[in-house]
Amino acid sequence: MHAVAIVVLAAGLGTRMKSRRPKVLHAIAGRAMLGHVLDAAAALEPNPAVVVTAPDAPEVQAEAQRWLPGAITVAQKERLGTAHAVMQALPELAHFEGTVLVLYGDVPLVRSETLKRLVQARKEQGADLVILAFTAADPTGYGRLLLNDQGDVTGIREEVDATDEEKKIRLCNSGIIAIDADLLRALLPRVSNDNAKGEYYLTDLVAMAAAEGRKVVHVLCDEEEVMGVNDRVQLAAAEAAMQNRLRLQAMRDGATFQDPTSVFLSFDTKLAPDVVIEPWVWFGPGVTVGEGAVIRAHSHIEQATIAPHAMIGPFARLRPGAEIATGAKIGNFVEVKKATVEEGAKVNHFTYIGDARVGARANIGAGTITCNYDGFSKHFTDIGAEAFIGSNSSLVAPVKIGRGAYVGSGSVITEDVPEEALALARARQVNKPGWARRFREKMRALARKTS
Ligand code: UD1
Ligand code: MG
Repeated sequence: MHAVAIVVLAAGLGTRMKSRRPKVLHAIAGRAMLGHVLDAAAALEPNPAVVVTAPDAPEVQAEAQRWLPGAITVAQKERLGTAHAVMQALPELAHFEGTVLVLYGDVPLVRSETLKRLVQARKEQGADLVILAFTAADPTGYGRLLLNDQGDVTGIREEVDATDEEKKIRLCNSGIIAIDADLLRALLPRVSNDNAKGEYYLTDLVAMAAAEGRKVVHVLCDEEEVMGVNDRVQLAAAEAAMQNRLRLQAMRDGATFQDPTSVFLSFDTKLAPDVVIEPWVWFGPGVTVGEGAVIRAHSHIEQATIAPHAMIGPFARLRPGAEIATGAKIGNFVEVKKATVEEGAKVNHFTYIGDARVGARANIGAGTITCNYDGFSKHFTDIGAEAFIGSNSSLVAPVKIGRGAYVGSGSVITEDVPEEALALARARQVNKPGWARRFREKMRALARKTS
């Protein structure tokens, strides 16, 4: 494939989002929309990659770097239209020869394969300009493609400039184009703003190229793939479409979803074959689940690694840095943060394990808490292999429970426990025979006296 450069338009203010955050930084499946677009483009190894932002948008710049290191950001000081936006990127493209792909930071569902098809169409059809188009269920608001008898594109008519007859056309412009760099440099400065909106339309390039006898063609994709996001309703629609795409991929890769639509995935969730996901599970970014593991209903998991054949949930919470080893069990209402639970260990009920190691095959009783925080810093709890922590124990960190040791139920452990020892850290029980009966008799007598 020949050289590809990209220009991503991300200068939109996103007024309709009603947000302090730049629109392209709103997330879908745990990643900013801009990240999705740049990641899709990354497969084409674009160089240069130019992101056109609003002035003074350091967060947008940082996000671009995150997904496409080396991406250049340029500011569009005034929003004078899509051609004006691309114009801002021209100095960065001055010496580039090849195909320039124009993308949009708020069109997050576009796939790498589709972008590759655009670039290929240039070569295979000898086209100077390729438009990514779709057949709209309702074309209102979109630019319409005008075709000649050969099916080549002769122009794009914006909604506001279209005649009633042209408004009936359902073949619409996605906005995404692939254009020869020389042609872009030649035509862009000649675009005028003599139209209903008084904007410099990028779409004018199409009629200009066609008038010069250049070949302009279109490539089709599904409407969903080029869905734009302008408000929170469209953000939710894009999220739903992305979730559907991720779930289908995960199922094709061998994971079982008992109720796919109730499971939320992140863009990078990795599920190995034979993983079973029960209903209502939430995956934040950075989760890997090994073969045969079962994630039971209502679990909430982020930045965690789950090894093969582990059992998580129901109602488990795995927070950043949770590493659950092969065959380990994390049960209901258990929270694990920045901790390793080693092979075959069991933490089955109502427990907090934070900043800790739970050794292999250790058994953590119901209600055990690692007291990791003193209001200033976090401290480590080290629980040896095969240790047994009795229910309702508090392990006050920093503290170490030796290999194979027992901790009596209800203990508050503040000192290290040696290997194989039993630690008891609770008041000794006292039984007073007959006390209850004597107490009741006394109280009843008192009640009779006062009534
Ligand atoms: C544009 C296309 C239209 C297409 C539609 C698809 C033009 C003239 N029209 O129309 O044919 O069907 O998209 O959704 O291109 N932007 C900037 N700077 C600007 C103007 C826009 O960065 O000065 C960005 C916007 O943030 C947005 C994108 O470019 O991401 C498209 O601009 P928008 O104003 O939404 O164009 P449409 O009128 O929707
Ligand atoms: Mg738009």
